[in-house]
Amino acid sequence: MNSATAAPRNIFVTTALPYANGRFHVGHMMEYIQADIWVRFQRMQGHKVHWVCADDTHGAPIMIAAEKAGKTPQEFVAEIAATRKEYHDGFHLSFDHWYSTDSPENVELAQDIYRKLKANGFISTKTIEQFYDPVKGMFLPDRYIKGECPKCGEKDQYGDSCENCGAVYAPTDLKNPYSTLSGATPEMRSSEHFFFKLSDPKCVEFLRAWTTEADRHGAPRLQSEIIAKSKEWLGEDGKLGDWDISRDAPYFGIPIPDAPGKFFYVWLDAPVGYLAALKNYFDSGKANANGEPRSFADFLADPATEQIHFIGKDIAYFHVLFWPAMLNFAGYKVPDSVNVHGFIQMGGEKMSKSRGTGVDPLKYLQLGMNPEWLRYYIAAKLNANVEDFDFTAEDFMARVNADLIGKYVNIASRCAGFIAKRFEGKLGGEADDEARALLQSTRDGGAEVADLYNKREFGKAIRKIMELADAANQYVDRKAPWLLAKDDTKAHELQSVCSTALGLFRSLTVMLAPVMPKLATDVSSLLNVEVDRFAALNAPLAPGHTIRPYAHLMSRVEERQLDALLGLDKVVDPHKAKGENDKNKKDNSSNKSASAPSKSEVSGKMSTSESSANNAFISIDDFVKIDLRIAKIVNAEHVEGSDKLLRLTLDVNEKNEDGSARLRNVFSGIKAAYAPEALVGQLTVLVANLAPRKMKFGVSEGMVLAASSKDGDNASGLYILNPHTGATPGMKVT
Ligand code: MSP
Ligand code: ZN
Repeated sequence: MNSATAAPRNIFVTTALPYANGRFHVGHMMEYIQADIWVRFQRMQGHKVHWVCADDTHGAPIMIAAEKAGKTPQEFVAEIAATRKEYHDGFHLSFDHWYSTDSPENVELAQDIYRKLKANGFISTKTIEQFYDPVKGMFLPDRYIKGECPKCGEKDQYGDSCENCGAVYAPTDLKNPYSTLSGATPEMRSSEHFFFKLSDPKCVEFLRAWTTEADRHGAPRLQSEIIAKSKEWLGEDGKLGDWDISRDAPYFGIPIPDAPGKFFYVWLDAPVGYLAALKNYFDSGKANANGEPRSFADFLADPATEQIHFIGKDIAYFHVLFWPAMLNFAGYKVPDSVNVHGFIQMGGEKMSKSRGTGVDPLKYLQLGMNPEWLRYYIAAKLNANVEDFDFTAEDFMARVNADLIGKYVNIASRCAGFIAKRFEGKLGGEADDEARALLQSTRDGGAEVADLYNKREFGKAIRKIMELADAANQYVDRKAPWLLAKDDTKAHELQSVCSTALGLFRSLTVMLAPVMPKLATDVSSLLNVEVDRFAALNAPLAPGHTIRPYAHLMSRVEERQLDALLGLDKVVDPHKAKGENDKNKKDNSSNKSASAPSKSEVSGKMSTSESSANNAFISIDDFVKIDLRIAKIVNAEHVEGSDKLLRLTLDVNEKNEDGSARLRNVFSGIKAAYAPEALVGQLTVLVANLAPRKMKFGVSEGMVLAASSKDGDNASGLYILNPHTGATPGMKVT
């Protein structure tokens, strides 16, 4: 659909209800950040979105964990629930309501859905045989039964497969089975279970249609991967078995009506929790305060209300088969779409509590790392497909420092200061044709970005925004306001160039606002304009409009922060101070710290630095660590007392904090090959992120690249690199 033209939509959004048996990990944050970006974008388009979520509290594992902790299940889940807010606030998540599945609304709704399913003939009962722990007095879920492998005899194997020989079997096949809860030998007992008749032809027919239909906007309701999966699950006739929805007491859950001692299996009441959270959001008056005057029942009954779920790929089965079928045959609204994402991983493995460290979201916040860096990084990695991605520290640093700060923030930091200092904060007018065309193409780009957000193609949206930021930077490079500022006769042009750049910056800020709401708010106050409607990116900054003095917008992420986050700071060679350590040694490239594993060894799928140490190859991750920039040699001179070095003064198009031009001092061993005068005015390539090196003659702030026949042998000539015409100072070499 065309996201820009539609009438206001009324959307009920949910994210998966996290199990209330542990704190959030970064996988949860990824799901919430994905949903939050989409939700904020829709709100910026003028649509009404109600985004609710809740703790998923029921089931045997939580009941058992609570017992082990010496708490009631209610106490246990309440303690977890109390930890949630810190993460929500910390990562700028705009949930409208957070609730719990252990609530009266959920009891009412789950029982209502069940009664209606039953009245419509979709519930059956069957007596099944199951292991029972006579000491604990309860039926045992498979995960609490262990025994000897029926094939190889290995001890302590779970009821589904053997870790030793790989044999696959049923729990009843185990030899000498025992309950992991009590150690008792389980007995076979029979019990009556309740089933949802998924195998009913009406149900299969409904699901075949629902999974493949388009949504109300004409887009597929499910992603193609999920449609393919559901085709497989639905299979040929009769492949879908009935679903066992009951568990016997003792169970922490919702009682099944008219069935003493029977409870709903947690996966029956968990998705109903979406509706329970929504109901409580309405009944508590919050929805009304949020501009929705109707009741829960009226809101849900309105066919115009869209219902959209965000979930991870591991729980797609429940959400595209059980959930829509339950709703449909109980006479409730069925979901419009279920948006499924892949996993954020480290080193190719799913990140979770059990994996230990990884990226712990709370530690991230406690280290003072900016939550919007993570939001930006995740946005840049996400697409609309069901794909996993790897978190790597190098990639994170490159995206944040090179793109976000180096491209986007750079525009404002190079231009806003001049407006404040030279023009009392007033913007100029009369942009020339070039400026007008650029402003227009940036606004046109905004329409593309909007469409990408709407389709959840966040990575593509970010790439497009960075392309637009590149164009803005090239404009600033060409106009060189720092040079205009030196010439009083060019004040008018200076004002107009900086105003144009800030107009571009405003448009880009609106485009980034769904991803970085806090930064957008700061920019809004700097530029003294609104940025919270998407259409605002088209509004020009009027001549004479006053902006506020430039204040620092966002810092770069530092390597030591990522080291601390990933727990790498503890393994660093204690003889070296962190940060500057190996870089301060002679020439850092050949002096790799031997004791500390690199971040890519710990975090990356490709173990990049390991390969650079042992093989002839480096990975792209290694390469992007080197910040190569086009530099203009604005001065070159002999160095007193050195027969090898020239002192170069380089313009890399950088600014000091106060807005003045920053020039770099670099000592280069090229005296034998070049007369200083021959170099002045030339462009070359600088390693811009080489740690500053204190030398006898002063501090060298980088290294220029030169070719020679052999390492260190200058006898046959030395040639500094020179880019083709068109390259300008500050451009990145990749
Ligand atoms: N309680 C169920 C969901 C019930 S919904 C009615 C559950 N909880 S969970 O805590 O295990 O997972 C919550 C969400 O986090 C799920 O959507 C899951 O896919 C997602 N993720 C868990 N690990 C993840 C990653 N590593 N990456 C991205 N999302 C991940 O399942
Ligand atoms: Zn075995």
